[in-house]
Amino acid sequence: MKRLAVLISGRGRNLEAIIRHCRAGHIPAELALVISNRADAGGLLTARAAGIATQVIAHDGYASRVDFDAALATALDSVAPDAVALAGFMRILTPAFIAQFQGRLLNIHPSLLPEYPGLHTHRRVLEDGQRRHGATVHFVSDALDGGPAVLQGGVAVTPEDTEQTLAMRVLQQVELKIFPQALSWLLRGDLQLRGAQVLFRGQALAAPLRLDDLEDEFC
Ligand code: GRF
Repeated sequence: MKRLAVLISGRGRNLEAIIRHCRAGHIPAELALVISNRADAGGLLTARAAGIATQVIAHDGYASRVDFDAALATALDSVAPDAVALAGFMRILTPAFIAQFQGRLLNIHPSLLPEYPGLHTHRRVLEDGQRRHGATVHFVSDALDGGPAVLQGGVAVTPEDTEQTLAMRVLQQVELKIFPQALSWLLRGDLQLRGAQVLFRGQALAAPLRLDDLEDEFC
């Protein structure tokens, strides 16, 4: 059985969707560990209620990013994960950590990358008057939110949208679908990272997969 670890910092709505799809067998893996850098992350309660092992590794308990990442890597190595999902994990990882998990590390980012890397994406999209917005699953690389994109989905931005309504629509209509799907493909061996290239079923992706590539279970 493949093993999946999930890193969180917040409410864990992405984690919730991942748990659901693991339980349904859509993601062929057991959820071996959920780690949060914040003890007050709501996602920890979700994981515990689902009987999943949890661990808090508080970043302010470490002298440096390198020390924090080393503790994270040690905790992850204890479950030897085939994939690690950054599900609302709000820490920038060091190159050494990324190198150790290269090819097994997927992040979800709430924008149509390469547009809008970084924080407060919904607000920035509204301020710029963008008509389209969305979310992207990508392999993690040293460039913040800059790794090779795997799967991306878009929504229309309406004039009535607020940061809250837009964030909720991107989460519900895109994130909660594309992250479990991408993790399923990765754990089934359909996705590989070769250098900076994403291979999907052996073919190099010229562009990220889209919502209409989703399998029925993830729609
Ligand atoms: C999600 O929108 C994710 O894309 C972003 O932060 C939010 C986390 O939500 N990184 P949750 O913790 O999964 O509820």
